[in-house]
Amino acid sequence: MTDGTIKTGDSAARWDKRYRAAAEPPFGEAPNDYLRGVCVRADFGAQTALSLADGDGRNGRWLAECGLSVTALDVSAVATERALALDSRRGVAVERVTADLAVWSPEAGRRWDVVALIYLQGASLLRHRALQIAAAAVAPGGWLVVEGFSKLQAVRPDMGPDDPDRLYDLEEISSAAQGLEVVEALAGRVLLAEGVRHRGAAEVVRFTARRPA
Ligand SMILES: C[S@@+](CC[C@H](N)C(=O)[O-])C[C@H]1O[C@@H](n2cnc3c(N)ncnc32)[C@H](O)[C@@H]1O
Repeated sequence: MTDGTIKTGDSAARWDKRYRAAAEPPFGEAPNDYLRGVCVRADFGAQTALSLADGDGRNGRWLAECGLSVTALDVSAVATERALALDSRRGVAVERVTADLAVWSPEAGRRWDVVALIYLQGASLLRHRALQIAAAAVAPGGWLVVEGFSKLQAVRPDMGPDDPDRLYDLEEISSAAQGLEVVEALAGRVLLAEGVRHRGAAEVVRFTARRPA
């Protein structure tokens, strides 16, 4: 993509197909380890959450189980249906929206105490927009939490995209998070154990920032 527009529509079909083919939640049912680590900090205290690209719902569901009021969004209708079914089986309610981050924006003025963007995999223009939306949606005193594969993951064909344009670097996240105070900005190798798809050594970025109260 070089003309400055974000291609819409193809992500939904691609991810619908992947979720339909999955016999079990591809990234597991437990929340992302990094998100969980931020949310159990002594100074966390969020009451509302927005989980962007929430897939079949592990992160949004866990936040709801922790007592937060959660809005979650994903482009895949198949993933969203599965997420709703799993929410109901676990007895939690999450406000779930099927929408494309290439075009979606929250209602004017709506903000959340924690905004999570965990493993949105897409081209740089989509990531850029999603990061901007995520950072702007953080309420005063609230948290932005991002994890994704870093550009170094391109040479590891076992997991994640192999096109560097679909992989993160810390600079793009920091620049979208201007106005927030960085709590952590990490890039390095970790051992993932999240479902069948995110398992093994991986090069990732992990980023947490807060909006001043
Ligand atoms: C690797 S999965 C991660 C799912 C979830 N965050 C998790 O950690 O379990 C990436 C998710 O991003 C969603 N996604 C991809 N492109 C998107 C877009 N343009 N708008 C919204 N969601 C998108 C996919 O449908 C998929 O559920």
